[in-house]
Amino acid sequence: MDFDEVVRRRRMVRNYTNESVEQASLDRIMRAAVRAPSAGFSQGQRFVVVTDRDTRMAVAEAGGEAEYIANGFEPWISRAPVHIVICTDKGAYLRRYSEPDKAEAATGQDEESGWVVPYWWVDAGASMMAILYAAVNEGLAAGFLGAHALGNLRTILGIPDEIDIVGIATIGHPGEDRRSGSLARGWNPPSDVVMHNHWTSPAYPG
Ligand SMILES: Cc1cc2nc3c(=O)[nH]c(=O)nc-3n(C[C@H](O)[C@H](O)[C@H](O)COP(=O)(O)O)c2cc1C
Repeated sequence: MDFDEVVRRRRMVRNYTNESVEQASLDRIMRAAVRAPSAGFSQGQRFVVVTDRDTRMAVAEAGGEAEYIANGFEPWISRAPVHIVICTDKGAYLRRYSEPDKAEAATGQDEESGWVVPYWWVDAGASMMAILYAAVNEGLAAGFLGAHALGNLRTILGIPDEIDIVGIATIGHPGEDRRSGSLARGWNPPSDVVMHNHWTSPAYPG
């Protein structure tokens, strides 16, 4: 599949068939996840790949699947044969920026307060995007459940306290799904949000 097609096809799919995901596909998706860029090459992205049925059920419950069902969605979390729990290890960044080549610049980034932009979140997002595109490239579909309401997920998966959970990418073969009402807002045309050369100049023509 060419890149334009991957970009065009990607959307959050909130239902999957009961077909499983081939291990080779999952391996390629996870290779894409770890090839995402990271600040200082800190590589603080961490992942828990969940395929075990009972664990997926517990994850779905923690992620509030019942509420989705009550709102007319399919049980898309438990139905997804693969959950990729995307996490970030802030400590990897603070340690990396304590190393001589980084510490020399004395930017204070060996402490959390020294980060103008906490890149551990940015890099996790880059991995998330890589996962979503890689899934489409495999002929699969993916969704994403943000970590704002993940209940006792940390306990279920034994994720240590120092690791932050960003969210869960659900992966599977696409089923018929109900699209999010949010999509009615429509995509921003580039001319609305892309400035050309200067913030106050006429918008980018593309
Ligand atoms: C950081 C982030 C968090 C999201 N959290 C959720 C979520 O908790 N539940 C959900 O159903 N969709 C979630 N979404 C999906 C968005 O609703 C979706 O990406 C957006 O409506 C655009 O639709 P599309 O991705 O299908 O093009 C999230 C997306 C992002 C990027």
